[in-house]
Amino acid sequence: MRSSVTTVAVVGGGVIGLSCAWRAAAAGFAVTVYDPAPGSGASRVAGGMLAPVTEAVPVEPEVFALGEAALRRWPDFAAELASAGADPGLRTAGTLVVALDPGDRAELDRVAEQLSHMGRAVEALSGRQVRRVEPSLGPQVRRALSVPEDLSVDNRALLSALLVACRGAGARFHAHRCLTLPSADVVVVAAGVHSAALHPTLRRAIRPVKGEILRLRCRPATLPPPSRTVRAIVGGRHSYLVPRDSGRLVLGATQREVGFDTDVTAGAVRELLTDAERVLPAIAEYALEETGAGLRPGSPDNLPVIGALEPGVLAATGHHRNGILLAPLTAEAVLALLRGEPVPVEVAPATPARLPCGQPVSGDASHGSHRHSRVARSAP
Ligand code: GLY
Repeated sequence: MRSSVTTVAVVGGGVIGLSCAWRAAAAGFAVTVYDPAPGSGASRVAGGMLAPVTEAVPVEPEVFALGEAALRRWPDFAAELASAGADPGLRTAGTLVVALDPGDRAELDRVAEQLSHMGRAVEALSGRQVRRVEPSLGPQVRRALSVPEDLSVDNRALLSALLVACRGAGARFHAHRCLTLPSADVVVVAAGVHSAALHPTLRRAIRPVKGEILRLRCRPATLPPPSRTVRAIVGGRHSYLVPRDSGRLVLGATQREVGFDTDVTAGAVRELLTDAERVLPAIAEYALEETGAGLRPGSPDNLPVIGALEPGVLAATGHHRNGILLAPLTAEAVLALLRGEPVPVEVAPATPARLPCGQPVSGDASHGSHRHSRVARSAP
């Protein structure tokens, strides 16, 4: 990238675009973010899990390494955001993976085995032990794994904090959906699923993967939500319950490949609630405050696309299930590219050059393997 770069256009004001915009503006670039509704889209619907360990099964080594490198950056990222204006709500209570039926317990054992092969210290808990630490979990929870390293963040507090930090650093906003790339010394394509329409290399690489979530609030005289994130395997289906402050809970998520459809279906709500009630019986008495659907930007190998698409055009997209987790590391990589510096080593496999019609661009040297997409009915 040229050292004379001064103007940077960031297309997309989700968690990735805002993180890149904040870091670039704070480093002295003249940044404009293009988005008709910054702080919305898939980032606003997210559960906010920062969970490289429990997301890494089945094992995808490069995705795992990227996630771990991103998680290491989260405490400083959150602290810097807090001092730039607002607390993004990082929670450090950890994660439990719980199983109910015999088949689910067998799957939990496989997860434990894979994680221990990966060198992750996971603690197996009986149903009784897990209820000692999380009394709201019901009697059908028979076995659990404690994964203290996997954290969470309040996605909406994070988006608000990023907007404050961007404005504080001097970034400007254009309430405009770009159909073509705007003019600037460097354009950063960070438009999630809409990135596919913005550059030929991304056209066949980025696809929408719908996720539906519910947001609930515990009411007086109901047991409060667990203090940790709970990932549940129920009748072979995967779901997660991510606590928020003030007795709130995000319950997610479906995972379906149905194009740009963002309707929340009655079947998805039923499925999520049925499974969650077996894990957390009190949820039946909670207030259902919101349902929502977001479109994750999926890629062919579950790695994001971070790097130069052509001179003056960078990609920061395709983060699929891990946009919130990967935001600090993606922003660091984009800033390095803007400065003409090497990206962190874990980011190298995310190069656009690995994509079928990706053109290797000088200074963007590494290559990742091309693997098939994980196909899942419901989100782990
Ligand atoms: N990161 C969780 C999800 O995409 O549902």
